[in-house]
Amino acid sequence: MSQSNTDILRSRQVTALRGTIHVPGDKSISHRSLILGGLAIGETRISGLLEGADVLATKDALIALGVEIEKTKHGDWQVTGVGLNGMVSPAKLLDLGNSGTGVRLLMGVVAGQDITATFTGDASLSSRPMARITDPLSSMGASITSRDGQLPVTITGTATPLARQHQSKVASAQIKSAILLAGLNARGTTQITEPHASRDHSESMLRYFGADVQQTIADDGSHIISLQGEAVLHGRQITVPRDPSSAAFAVVAALITPDSDIIIPGIGMNPLRTGLLDTLIEMGGSIERVNERTEGGEIIADLHVKSSQLHGIQVPASRAASMIDEYPILSVAAAAASGTTDMRGVAELRVKETDRIKVMADGLRQCGVDVAYDDDSMQVTGQVSGQVKASKINGGVTIAAQHDHRIGMSFLTLGMVAAQPITVSGCATIETSFPGFAERMSALGASISGDAV
Ligand code: S3P
Repeated sequence: MSQSNTDILRSRQVTALRGTIHVPGDKSISHRSLILGGLAIGETRISGLLEGADVLATKDALIALGVEIEKTKHGDWQVTGVGLNGMVSPAKLLDLGNSGTGVRLLMGVVAGQDITATFTGDASLSSRPMARITDPLSSMGASITSRDGQLPVTITGTATPLARQHQSKVASAQIKSAILLAGLNARGTTQITEPHASRDHSESMLRYFGADVQQTIADDGSHIISLQGEAVLHGRQITVPRDPSSAAFAVVAALITPDSDIIIPGIGMNPLRTGLLDTLIEMGGSIERVNERTEGGEIIADLHVKSSQLHGIQVPASRAASMIDEYPILSVAAAAASGTTDMRGVAELRVKETDRIKVMADGLRQCGVDVAYDDDSMQVTGQVSGQVKASKINGGVTIAAQHDHRIGMSFLTLGMVAAQPITVSGCATIETSFPGFAERMSALGASISGDAV
C-alpha cells in the first residue's frame, strides 16, 4: 500500500532513526527549470526534477501555454522552448492547485507576452494575496482583473512591457521572480529592491540561460537586482539538487529522536536556503556537511545528522528569508528543546499555504507544548528537563494539515517523540513537495502508517 497517498496518517514514538534518506528535487529550482526552459530557444534537459503535484501543475500550465514538455525517464524531462514571445493563450483555466510559486511566476510570464490567461487554484491558494504580484505587473502594462486581489486572476499581457523599478516591502522570491520574468521582454532595465536577500534561484538560472542579471547590496543592507530587458534565453542542461526544505524534516527528526544517526545525500546548499541549518547548529544540533561539491552550478553536500540535546535560542528577523519555509519544522525542534526558542520577523508565515504561525501554535498547544505569538513573532517553550525521553509532548490528538504540506510533515515528525501518537488529517497535500515522505521516513525507522482511521 502506498502510505503517502493515504490522507490520514498516524506517527508513533520511535527509539531511533538510522540509515540514508534520499529526498526529492528542489521545488523552487524545478518550477524555474520548466518555466525558463519554456521561454528559451531550443531544448532544455532537466534531471532530478521534483515530480510533486506543485511542479506538475506548473508543467501542465506551460503545456496549455504552448510549450512542449516530455518525460524521458523518472526525474528526467525535456522542454522545447517557444522563445520569449512565443506562448499562446490557453484554451482552459490555468489551475495551479496549491502552488504559490507556480501561479505567481507564471503570472509574470503571461504579463510579458501578448496573450490572455486566467489563473485558479485550490482553497488554500485562492485565499492567498495576489495583489503583491498583480499591482507591479499592472504597472508594467498588463491588464489584470481579480477577485479582490485573490484568485481567480485574469491577465492580458503585453509583448512590450515597461521596465519597472520596484521597491518590495517584503523579501519575497516570488514577487521578485514574477517581475523579472515580465521584465525579460521590456526595453531597458527592470530593477527590484528587497529589504533582505530572498532566495536567488531565478537570478542564477536567468544568468545561466543567457540573461544579464546583476545583484548588489546597498549601504542599508537592502538587496538590488537588475535585469536587462529584450533578453534572449537559450535552452540548457539542468541538474536539480535535492531540496533543503524537504531535507529539513529528516534533519529535525534525527536530531530529536534518541540514538539517531542518518545521512541525507546531495542537498542544495545555496546560502539563501540554509538558515535552518545555521539555527539548529546554534541550538546544539550535530549536523555535519560532508562531501561538499558543485553540481550543475549549485553547491551541494551530504548532511550527517545525529540526535542531539537542543536548547532554545533567539532566531533573528534577518535570517527569516533564508529559512522562510522551515519555521513549522523549527517549531517542532523547539518543542523538543530545553528553554524557549524565540522566532522574530516571521509575519510572512501568515500568508503561506496556511497562517503558519496560528496553525502551528494551535497544534503544538493541542499536543501540550507552550507557545506564545503575535503578528510577527512566535515563542515555543520546550521541555524544562531537557530530556526528550521525559517528553511532555503529550500527543494523542488529531491535527488538520489544512492543505499545507509542511504543517502535515511537521506534526508527523513531532509524533516521533510524543508520548502518545499524533494523527494528521489532510496528508494528501504532502504530495505537493515530498512524494513518498511516509515511506522514506519509515525506512529510517519512523512509524508512520495510514491505518489511523
Ligand atoms: C519560493 C519562495 C518563497 C517560499 C516558497 C517558494 C520560490 O516564498 O515560501 O515556498 O520558489 O520562489 P516568498 O518568496 O514569497 O516568501
